[in-house]
Amino acid sequence: MKKYLQKKLSEALEILGLPEKTLEIYLVDDKTIAGINRQYLGRSGPTNVISFSYWEGRRPPRSPFLGEIFISQDTARREAESYGFPYQAYLLALAVHGLLHLLGHEHERGGVAAARMAALEAQVLEKLAPRGHKKVVKFLQRREYMPAKLAVNVDHVATVREARKVHYPDPVHAAVLAELGGAHGIVVHLRGDRRHIQERDVRLLREIVKTKLVLEMAATEEMIQFALEVRPDQVTLVPEKRTEITTEGGLAVKGHTKKVAQVVERLKEGGILKVSLFINPDPEELKAAARTGADVVELHTGHYAEARGEEEREKELARLEEAARVARDLGFEVHAGHGLSYENIEPVAAIPEIIEFSIGHAIVGRALLVGMAEAVREMLRLIEKARP
Ligand code: PXP
Repeated sequence: MKKYLQKKLSEALEILGLPEKTLEIYLVDDKTIAGINRQYLGRSGPTNVISFSYWEGRRPPRSPFLGEIFISQDTARREAESYGFPYQAYLLALAVHGLLHLLGHEHERGGVAAARMAALEAQVLEKLAPRGHKKVVKFLQRREYMPAKLAVNVDHVATVREARKVHYPDPVHAAVLAELGGAHGIVVHLRGDRRHIQERDVRLLREIVKTKLVLEMAATEEMIQFALEVRPDQVTLVPEKRTEITTEGGLAVKGHTKKVAQVVERLKEGGILKVSLFINPDPEELKAAARTGADVVELHTGHYAEARGEEEREKELARLEEAARVARDLGFEVHAGHGLSYENIEPVAAIPEIIEFSIGHAIVGRALLVGMAEAVREMLRLIEKARP
């Protein structure tokens, strides 16, 4: 078994692009690993795997020797049985986990680092043992589940209202129902031309939203004054053109960093807790955004949503994945939105760095349809009741 694991870990090092590195693996029993656990980690009881890495502080070892991995066969057997995995497959998963620790990966503090480690573990394992390990790979993929938030944009409830200039449907009512459905935030875009959301809506929402109220707006003097007066929990700065049907592109931060930074500063000084910039998934824009003092970037998913064909979609998805990583590394809280729908959300939701999605049109459109039958029944009941 030890020979098998050692051979597989050499293959894993090749997959990881480190064929020159070496390590030592020891298969021990519970008593031995409990002793190691107590002596070196100050923890009591047995555990499944412990790695001793030869890293020096934050630096990887200069020598080819990465370190040692101890695996308790007793714990591995017990755990494999309770998860319903083949013993050898689970042992290999533990060995790969130990190897990633030797390479400096960590999961104990959770968050993105843990999600990355679990994803890499699953990837390596899948390549090492394509057959018979599917269950273990699936388990690893799910292990570091990172909850993400959904902020619901109710603009288009107001679009239906404004089509007739009446008082219904009210985006404020929609916001209450969205929160009841589990939304983590309510988003509205107050546009310069007031084509859907009105100032009255934002003021009322400020009173009744229990989660968080996000105001999307252009960085104009009028809007800055309004935001400072109403004080939403978050402002998202977006570009705005009078002729567009919806927000077309991301904010051009590059080349306007100073101006954007001034607006961010005014909003934050005025008590807005979070300022977000809606930008294209472009590392250059992100680097510029990092000089503005904004807390959040919302990655524009419009190009991904509109991509034609598998190849283009994959390309746009890869851009989003890279931008999300860069944004996170630059210290931003990473959100994403625009054009996300029931058909295209899943690949974007699988990007661990993105922790919040801002979705409007698809949800309002779906609400119309799933509510249609009940709306017709209600009207029929009124008609039938009134008949002579
Ligand atoms: N995020 C931002 C910055 C937006 O401007 C919009 C559209 O108002 C959305 C998200 C939501 O896009 P959609 O309505 O296509 O879901």
